[in-house]
Amino acid sequence: MIVAAAAAACSTASEQPDPGTPSPDAGALDPETFDEIILAAEPQRDGDPEKGYRALVNEPYVPCGIPDSAYSRVYPSAPESMRIPGREGRNATLAYNFTAMKTKDGVDLVTSNCLTCHAGRIEGKLFVGLGNADGDFTQDADTQIETFNLVGALVSDPKERAEYNKWKERVTVVAPHSVLSTRGPNPADGFTAVLFAHHDPKTLAWSSTPLMEVPPPQDVPVDVPPWWRMKKKTSMFYVGGGRGDHARIMMTASILCTSSVEESRAIDAYFADIRAYIMSIEPPKFPFPIDQGLADRGRPVFEATCSRCHGTYGPGGSYPNKLVTLPEIGTDPVLASGTAQFGPPFVEWYKNSFFGEIARLEPKEGYVAPPLDGIWATAPYLHNGSIPTIAALLDSTQRPRYWTRTFDSKAYDAAAVGWIYTPLDHGKEGEADPTMKAALYDTTKLGYANAGHTFGDALSAEDRAAVIEYLKTL
Ligand code: HEC
Ligand code: HEC
Repeated sequence: MIVAAAAAACSTASEQPDPGTPSPDAGALDPETFDEIILAAEPQRDGDPEKGYRALVNEPYVPCGIPDSAYSRVYPSAPESMRIPGREGRNATLAYNFTAMKTKDGVDLVTSNCLTCHAGRIEGKLFVGLGNADGDFTQDADTQIETFNLVGALVSDPKERAEYNKWKERVTVVAPHSVLSTRGPNPADGFTAVLFAHHDPKTLAWSSTPLMEVPPPQDVPVDVPPWWRMKKKTSMFYVGGGRGDHARIMMTASILCTSSVEESRAIDAYFADIRAYIMSIEPPKFPFPIDQGLADRGRPVFEATCSRCHGTYGPGGSYPNKLVTLPEIGTDPVLASGTAQFGPPFVEWYKNSFFGEIARLEPKEGYVAPPLDGIWATAPYLHNGSIPTIAALLDSTQRPRYWTRTFDSKAYDAAAVGWIYTPLDHGKEGEADPTMKAALYDTTKLGYANAGHTFGDALSAEDRAAVIEYLKTL
């Protein structure tokens, strides 16, 4: 519970909020726009990957949180399965997604870190850098706030109280914007926008009231991408919107807690190292047997059908960094239609801010064709996580309209490549049980569509099976 709260805050949309008017059709696009845009590389700051890992798992770059005195009463020490190597001092006994810090006033806090969203499990094994596909952000804002209050009841010391109040104000602002109707996907894009609105762009001073208009909360699901793609990618984010200095964009996550440029610059100073670590991550190898003969037959089919967007692999491989516009890709348009932090006022905020010194948000009306390294591990598929397996992605007649899964990391389907799932005969509307409703992926809901990317449909069943086998080798 507190895990989710500290990560930012979460909840359940009981009703689908009005998402405004997204979904530009082909006619809304500039006729000059190419269907495919190549995103050119830009200079990045060098860093040290080893220092970067140590910073990632030890430094308090999200510098506000829960007093440790309260935290440790609820969670005395993390079980072995929740610990990771390289953690120093108090961090060694905390769960991997929490970081300890001491404030200037000497208060010990427990704060959240990147791994809440950027570590995931398959077959029980935790991979740092794999997107967390099991997150549950379905709790409504009131329920989240009740949890914050339960934590608050454990805090009595006045200095600790002041720190708790700071954290509580931030997570309370974020709470309504971190609610999704469905378990699995992530709301980070939505709540980042609200955090921009509560900070003066130039000084980064926190304002209790928003300094710009905040759009109503939206239910926009995003499947957390794996970090190892950044080795090849020239932009960050599905919509290719993260441009300029990537380390600066990555440290934007600290904005939940930061209140000054000085504080942010000190954090930014070690983010080139964190980025260098992220660039060093290798995707995990497919842990089940592979039919190499079949995979070898799949390779030329892949290169003929898929490589123009996804690139080629192995020695001499190349990756084009191509963004495919909405009319050509045909996947759910909502994320690529200027929602949340990608809306024009927030792009403008970013430009005028500390972050805008060296980084830019330049969202496009389309999606980057990602590198497919380690693709076996990143189910569910598409930017909204709407398709549970690669077999279903590559044969659109097999895509379930309504489906659910257990969120047990052992429920992995090595043949279809993805999560074992159960197709259902009804959507959210027909589901009375609240837990089941949250675990039910309903592709008829706005933002959750599983359409488009039909490039696998024309393949024969044999060729498709061969391509799937080949993808296991990447
Ligand atoms: C609350 C969840 C959450 C936290 C915490 C978080 N991220 Fe992310 N991150 C996401 C989501 C969701 C995306 C995808 C957003 C999109 O593409 O629209 C993302 C995207 C990224 C990407 C781009 C990957 C790609 O392929 O384009 C990088 C790099 C990244 N995050 C690094 C970090 C770092 C470093 C931290 C900690 C400082 C962090 N993130 C904290 C949720 C989170
Ligand atoms: C015209 C360009 C294009 C072609 C051709 C293409 N893709 Fe894609 N592919 C994309 C884009 C763009 C996305 C991201 C779409 C989204 O997330 O909405 C994507 C997403 C994917 C994903 C999901 C990635 C993830 O982690 O969610 C897989 C797997 C994939 N493609 C495999 C293939 C295979 C296999 C082929 C050939 C049969 C192929 N693609 C052909 C552009 C293309």
